Amino acid sequence: MARRSFPVKKFLRVESRTSRSPSDDEQYYFMSGEKASQFRQLTCQFIQPLYELRKPFLNFALGVVLRSENPKYKTGDHVYGFLGSQAYIIYHDVPPLTILPVIENLPWSVYAGTLGMAGQTTYIGWKLYSKATKGETMFISTAAGPVGSAVVQITKDQGLKVVVSAGSDEKVEFIKSIGVGIAFNYKSQDTRAVLENLGTGVDIFWDNASYLFCVVDTLYSGILEIAIDLLNVYGRLINCESISQHNTETKYGIKNLLFVMLKSLSMSVPIASNHFDLLGEFYIEFPQKVFGSEIKYTGQRHQGWEQVGQAILNVQKRQNKAKAVLVVASELFSHKL
Ligand SMILES: NC(=O)c1ccc[n+]([C@@H]2O[C@H](COP(=O)([O-])OP(=O)(O)OC[C@H]3O[C@@H](n4cnc5c(N)ncnc54)[C@H](OP(=O)(O)O)[C@@H]3O)[C@@H](O)[C@H]2O)c1
Repeated sequence: MARRSFPVKKFLRVESRTSRSPSDDEQYYFMSGEKASQFRQLTCQFIQPLYELRKPFLNFALGVVLRSENPKYKTGDHVYGFLGSQAYIIYHDVPPLTILPVIENLPWSVYAGTLGMAGQTTYIGWKLYSKATKGETMFISTAAGPVGSAVVQITKDQGLKVVVSAGSDEKVEFIKSIGVGIAFNYKSQDTRAVLENLGTGVDIFWDNASYLFCVVDTLYSGILEIAIDLLNVYGRLINCESISQHNTETKYGIKNLLFVMLKSLSMSVPIASNHFDLLGEFYIEFPQKVFGSEIKYTGQRHQGWEQVGQAILNVQKRQNKAKAVLVVASELFSHKL
């Protein structure tokens, strides 16, 4: 059995520090403890900075510009990017931040999920890698989250047969409510049997949890292997990520990768930060679809800095019911968060 080492609750703490302007009180999340740095033992580079010990915890977040001497940003702009979990941040070199379009009546928190990195990943993965044609069959795993549910909805009118899985009956009901005919609970139904019964094979597998290795996890392991078995010739495998192996040290190697060559499958990983060029069109298309309820979303809100550890732990332990959003400093935003 894989050894789990969830690092969050024990190793995250909230601190207030007396500091320079603009206010006296600055709140930080710090990571400490050796578990927080386990990835540091690897010598390879990653596309995003790793969490640093005793430094604010980095996350995708929204903020409001309070003062700016940079002509690109003005006071009152609402921005989104990879930010430290701090009450305020003073930048000398500003990292890439997106100035968000203001849509009144659309809660700002949506920009943290369906209109944030999750939606961007969906948009880019679908646009660049799906190569879908009418009549094909697409399987989306653990599809009730912000990525999966957005994929489900943007593929609705594409003439595809879409089948999705999720880890609870409640999640299955949510996916059905947004318009998917074939949705099943992969913990109580056999994924291979469901896919085989389609009688079409699978042309596109959008994998939201396993990536190239499955964790030795009795709940999720093997799903990528099953999909590789059942993918049709020229099938596309879009690996969104590998949450199932975040907190384990025992990895389970995929045994049927030979089929990737024999069936000429393609495997891709959509990474929003590699495609800043597509984000302009994303912010033109997606917010309007969400505002017009063409794309529906759910969210699970946590109020206040003190909740951050629990919120992350819930995601890591698959106890979250929807996109986890931590709400702080709501008074700074132009309308409701
Ligand atoms: N490539 C990128 O840049 C990028 C961007 C955004 C997100 N992602 C990744 O894309 C995936 C979907 O994102 P999301 O925000 O929509 O996530 P999410 O659905 O809110 O959370 C991931 C889901 O994976 C399932 N899961 C299966 N095994 C798990 C395990 N061992 N531990 C925790 N969860 C497990 C759970 O759903 P069930 O209860 O249905 O099993 C869980 O709700 C995630 O893996 C995320 O890390 C990648």
